[in-house]
Amino acid sequence: MQSLSTRHLLGIKDLTESDIHLILDTAREFKDVINRPIKKVPSLRDITIANVFFENSTRTRLSFELAEKRLSADVVNFSASGSSVKKGETLLDTVNNILAMKVDMIVMRHSSPGAPHYLAKHIPANVVNAGDGTHEHPTQALLDSFSIHQKLGDVAGKRVAIIGDITHSRVALSNIFCLQKQGAEVMVCGPATLIPKHMAALGVRISHNVREALDWCDVANVLRIQLERQQIKYFPSLREYSLYFGISKQMLDELDRPIVLMHPGPINRGVELTSDAADSHHSIILDQVENGVAVRMAVLYLLAQL
Ligand code: CP
Repeated sequence: MQSLSTRHLLGIKDLTESDIHLILDTAREFKDVINRPIKKVPSLRDITIANVFFENSTRTRLSFELAEKRLSADVVNFSASGSSVKKGETLLDTVNNILAMKVDMIVMRHSSPGAPHYLAKHIPANVVNAGDGTHEHPTQALLDSFSIHQKLGDVAGKRVAIIGDITHSRVALSNIFCLQKQGAEVMVCGPATLIPKHMAALGVRISHNVREALDWCDVANVLRIQLERQQIKYFPSLREYSLYFGISKQMLDELDRPIVLMHPGPINRGVELTSDAADSHHSIILDQVENGVAVRMAVLYLLAQL
């Protein structure tokens, strides 16, 4: 049996191309499982997984929990609010106390970039990064690639435009690594203030014109404006952002070829996407959410073999 080259999933940067293919191929099998009347397999029976969330989440947290339950793992959920973190307990003490209860794997979301990497160096359990600040969100990128593959038959050779707040997005960085490792072309598009200078060094195209990005791409992956991470003003107002970078159904309909619209969620309806675009036939946003469970089952299953 093929196995991953790493015992943690900390970022896409650390994965090989064959790791990515192995995860996506395994996810395809688990997608069949979760569409059966009996959605559970015994693969992770007797494995206990803690979902440790220091930051808010709807999709990632529920998706990991469902993935774990579909694999028959035992699951405990921890959120920083209401925990002893509020009394000053450190990250490492918190996680070591969870591990002392015989937990085998940690899925963690944290606002500090590098927090899961730190944890992986100091604990014996497998660590899965469920989003670390503005750094990486590897399972989101994997489920995005899986969704592109399911919709277009392949990722290699496809043109993907990542549009929006690139500066504050962990989804953007993980997607760039994941798409490039599979042979896709990537463009980032947004206001100059929301595209960090180091993007040019990653070998992506850069555009500040959303119509140019839509004309170029097969897939538009639209990101949320992350106001909660913006300590200064990067653009004059949300209204102005929406005027210059918002995407409507009409803009997608006017293209002379099909386009796939993606968004990792949560959507700011009326800011980066109009409601009619988000709910249009171009959109695979809810397919991404469905695919997230299968992809996370694949990641957990493969890590548990190591
Ligand atoms: N896409 C994503 O990470 O969503 P949540 O913040 O709701 O988990």
